[in-house]
Amino acid sequence: MLSYQHAYHAGGPADVHKHAALAALLHLLTRKDRPITYLESHAGRALYDLASPETAKTGEAMRGVARLTPGAHPYWTAVEKIRAAHGPAAYPGSPAVAQALLRPGDRMALMELHPAEHAGLAAAMKGEGVAVHKRDGAEGLRALTPPDPRRGLALIDPSYEVKTEYVDTAMLALEISVRWPEGVVMVWYPLLPAGRHEALVGPVEAVEPKGLIRDEVIFADPPPRGMFGSGLLLLNAPYGAAEALAEARAVCAAAYADDAAAA
Ligand SMILES: C[S@@+](CC[C@H](N)C(=O)[O-])C[C@H]1O[C@@H](n2cnc3c(N)ncnc32)[C@H](O)[C@@H]1O
Repeated sequence: MLSYQHAYHAGGPADVHKHAALAALLHLLTRKDRPITYLESHAGRALYDLASPETAKTGEAMRGVARLTPGAHPYWTAVEKIRAAHGPAAYPGSPAVAQALLRPGDRMALMELHPAEHAGLAAAMKGEGVAVHKRDGAEGLRALTPPDPRRGLALIDPSYEVKTEYVDTAMLALEISVRWPEGVVMVWYPLLPAGRHEALVGPVEAVEPKGLIRDEVIFADPPPRGMFGSGLLLLNAPYGAAEALAEARAVCAAAYADDAAAA
């Protein structure tokens, strides 16, 4: 357990889908003056080096962020901020994407269990309103919801190292969406040849929770085996979320086979 390391996948096509969508949704939520809370169950280390041996080994970033042209989208606000602070090979994990878009008065709580990833996260994520927890993400999310401020977003982005994480994630997302009706719940999942994501998406869709959006992209050049696409589920999606997701897909279209589905 806990053998997954996100450094191998940072900046890949799945990351750009997830991070562009996250940036677009936080941009939407921060248009209103009232403060928000950002919660994340599986945060990773927040700061990645795309010149690292891990990145070179998979080549995922070359098929992801390296293909894209910077522009005015909030995703680029986060990428440019981390590059300005740490150099051109730096890439933001989701906590750093969120931090780039939050305002004074907003709050964030980040869970990470892996000792080295947690140490990196704690070093990268300092500042007013930021709490870093070394604890199980599902347990932490349950304990911290509903948060104060009540508006906000929870990202659930597990490593899916064991098959049961798909159904466990479905149950967690549904529970959090009820415990925290003002909170947008955002779940990332991989599209794999075995179709394991159906164990997550199926139970959620069967319940028909409020504000459900399913958003999937297929990668431009997926490996012969392994992950061929990236999926997101939103629960309690706010007005404007579907348009925000479409804008995020457009930003990253160079990494995708087509501008795929939002159901
Ligand atoms: C997919 S990565 C997160 C990537 C990050 N959200 C991003 O987009 O930059 C999943 C993370 O979950 C951590 N993890 C695994 N099991 C966990 C658990 N039970 N509770 C909290 N974190 C866990 C792993 O160490 C890994 O860093």
